[in-house]
Amino acid sequence: MPTTPTVDPRDPLDGEYCPVPLEFDRLDPATALQRSREFRDDMARRRTVRAFSTEDVPYELIENAVATAATAPSGAHAQPWTFVVVSDPDVKAEVRAAAEEEERRSYESRMPDEWLRALRRLGTDDVKTHLTDAPYVIVAFAQAHYVGPDGYTRKHYYVQESMGIACGLLLASLHRAGLATLTHTPSPMGFLRTILGRPRNERPYLVVPVGYPAPDATVPDITRKDLRDVLVTVAPQHPPAARGEAVRGRGDTARSSTRG
Ligand SMILES: Cc1cc2nc3c(=O)[nH]c(=O)nc-3n(C[C@H](O)[C@H](O)[C@H](O)COP(=O)(O)O)c2cc1C
Repeated sequence: MPTTPTVDPRDPLDGEYCPVPLEFDRLDPATALQRSREFRDDMARRRTVRAFSTEDVPYELIENAVATAATAPSGAHAQPWTFVVVSDPDVKAEVRAAAEEEERRSYESRMPDEWLRALRRLGTDDVKTHLTDAPYVIVAFAQAHYVGPDGYTRKHYYVQESMGIACGLLLASLHRAGLATLTHTPSPMGFLRTILGRPRNERPYLVVPVGYPAPDATVPDITRKDLRDVLVTVAPQHPPAARGEAVRGRGDTARSSTRG
């Protein structure tokens, strides 16, 4: 006879399935289309900003963005993230000094030529004024493991994927709130754990300076791939005529069905 597994109270991911009714707002088609288009067009205006004004921004916008990021789906619902919001000028200066030291070494000797050439058109270098100019610097940490108060540890799953989704939501929320961001990855960035006093099970994942752009901010003249180059649809070759469904995608269509 199968035994019922017992729940380990030390493990926050261990538990029984307790179903509750789904809360779901079904939109009418016109509203759905309008919201979808508005979001697409607004997100298309997001740019990575590297020159920030020192002007303050309402803290609640930052807090709401972190709350939004924390709604992300995550492997086994481990929610393997910590977002450290830094506004202390002394700490920002310390982070900048350490980041510039690493970046100087990277630009001088660690980055292969191919990487340097790819960065040329973005106009980046080892000077990171954004880390002290932006009023807030959000540092996202990924938790590879859960560590309980009694030292109990358990592994987290799909940490990179979960972090990527959460940080995408963070950037989207900040952009929707009219703020500028930079997706920054000083490499290596282990110094952030030391400066910000984070535990050993957390790894720095992303640094996001946030604020308003400097009045004279410029961005590189780069383009995004066309929808046709990023969207592949796999639709039925002969859709059921009775339903009259439109199956043609806006992008290239990969026909995979062999139904005749
Ligand atoms: C994972 C990741 C790491 C990045 N790291 C840096 C970085 O360290 N410094 C920087 O100036 N930009 C960085 N960027 C920003 C990219 O250069 C930028 O997103 C890209 O040039 C496209 O520009 P856009 O965001 O304005 O569309 C990073 C972006 C991503 C997604």
